Amino acid sequence: MSDALKRAAAQAALALVEPGMRLGLGTGSTAKHFVDGLGARVAQGLAILCVATSEATQAQAERLRIPMTTLDETPELDLTVDGADELDGRLRLIKGGGAALLREKIVAAASRRMVVIAAAAKAVDMLGRFPLPIEVVPFGLGATRRAIVEAMASAGAAGELVLRLKDDGAPLATDGGHLILDAHLGRIPDPEALALALSQVPGVMEHGLFIGLATAAFVAGPDGVTVIGDPAASRG
Ligand code: 5RP
Repeated sequence: MSDALKRAAAQAALALVEPGMRLGLGTGSTAKHFVDGLGARVAQGLAILCVATSEATQAQAERLRIPMTTLDETPELDLTVDGADELDGRLRLIKGGGAALLREKIVAAASRRMVVIAAAAKAVDMLGRFPLPIEVVPFGLGATRRAIVEAMASAGAAGELVLRLKDDGAPLATDGGHLILDAHLGRIPDPEALALALSQVPGVMEHGLFIGLATAAFVAGPDGVTVIGDPAASRG
């Protein structure tokens, strides 16, 4: 069921893709459906140029022979389609469950539109049930951790910070060679304040709060796909 919902959300976003577009490709199991669908359309002759948000998505796109570029060659994109771990009614997101938040945020910020695709279980009234991923540099981890706890407190949030590990028990390294601390907050009463406080901590490369980036969302539930925002609207 859940996989069918992810595919339904991805299909809705595929309808936004037009010939000649420069696209950002998200990461995760929902974005994977979008990339699969895009690959099928490219095989039928659709001309597009894409930037991936992770090595995993890059590999998938290359397997599907989707024409790829980089933000160095193509610094402005028309549309990014990506999944999310949580989204609220104001299109504020938690991302990074797949450890790709840094590249995902860079690509989203370079895009005039960012459309989220998600199964309905991801839609929440208040962000925070999903642990907030915070990407940090390995140097000074203990000091960075302390500063993050203070930053969270200043924004009215508190909870355990857990270093993300791989299945073999070693710390997970992101595509950029950083570590992830997952903040188990339960609730984030003021996402804007928390985003600002975290962005001011030395050692924090990026955090998984995406605010003011998504322009629309396709949320798939058992009764169909709900649209939040305007899928045709650009940011700014
Ligand atoms: C990766 C992400 C993903 O978009 C997020 O984790 C959702 O993944 P999925 O579609 O597999 O539920 O932010 O860093």
